[in-house]
Amino acid sequence: MFKYASHPGLKAHADNLPVHVAIIMDGNGRWAKRQNLSRTKGHIQGVQTVREVIGACQEKNISVLTLFAFGVENWKRPTKEVRNLFRLFFLVLRKDIAKLHENSIKLKIIGDRTVLHKALVSAINEAEDLTRHNTGLQLNIAVNYSGRWDLLNGIQKLMKDPMSKKDINEDAISQVLSLAGLPEPDLFIRTGGVQRISNFMLWELAYTELYFTNTLWPDFNKSAFELALNDYASRERRFGLTAEQLG
Ligand code: IPE
Ligand code: IPE
Ligand code: MG
Repeated sequence: MFKYASHPGLKAHADNLPVHVAIIMDGNGRWAKRQNLSRTKGHIQGVQTVREVIGACQEKNISVLTLFAFGVENWKRPTKEVRNLFRLFFLVLRKDIAKLHENSIKLKIIGDRTVLHKALVSAINEAEDLTRHNTGLQLNIAVNYSGRWDLLNGIQKLMKDPMSKKDINEDAISQVLSLAGLPEPDLFIRTGGVQRISNFMLWELAYTELYFTNTLWPDFNKSAFELALNDYASRERRFGLTAEQLG
């Protein structure tokens, strides 16, 4: 009935849990500063939170988790931080992939990989191939991603296809985005106290519930995640209808 309601292939939760959660993991730098540590130490601590949130999603049978790890705008950071971030991502990917696979997690990296280091691209491809047929949590990690890049890239693909030129509609656009075929996020979380989208999933967030918390990403533990889920559960999603219509 609802255009934006969850994907028919994935059952909505009876207890009002989201099917798809998308997160901007923000606040690693400020967390590190408070502890008198380097920004990189903050990112390392942030990886622990990623593991904890993945575990919580599995426990609660959340189907899809999308994490924003590195945006196209983040190249503007000091070279050393950028290098450390990619090194960390590479190391964690190699270290954790077996465990993710054991847990039946299906991994997908979204973003422009044409400019990434060859070794990283190979590790990404291997990880995706290994977990391709897994049926547990679908884990999407956005690396060198931006919502505008995804839209532009998708529309360029559409324009090249003579079949689609005649009929560019909303479905056609949804189908060429990185997360085509998945339900759009039900719940968006941004940690770190700022309230902006920062070029994250611009198309898919059209009707997503937004949740902002001051908690810095390295401090965002399972109970902080549960607070966000409880907040989501209490909301009334109207998709343009009136409260009476939903009654
Ligand atoms: C988020 O934390 C991680 C990335 C953008 C990679 P930040 O590094 O943005 O942390 P703050 O915002 O400086 O605290
Ligand atoms: C945004 O984080 C994207 C990621 C978490 C990767 P930033 O901390 O870089 O966002 P802005 O620039 O402050 O909005
Ligand atoms: Mg930040």
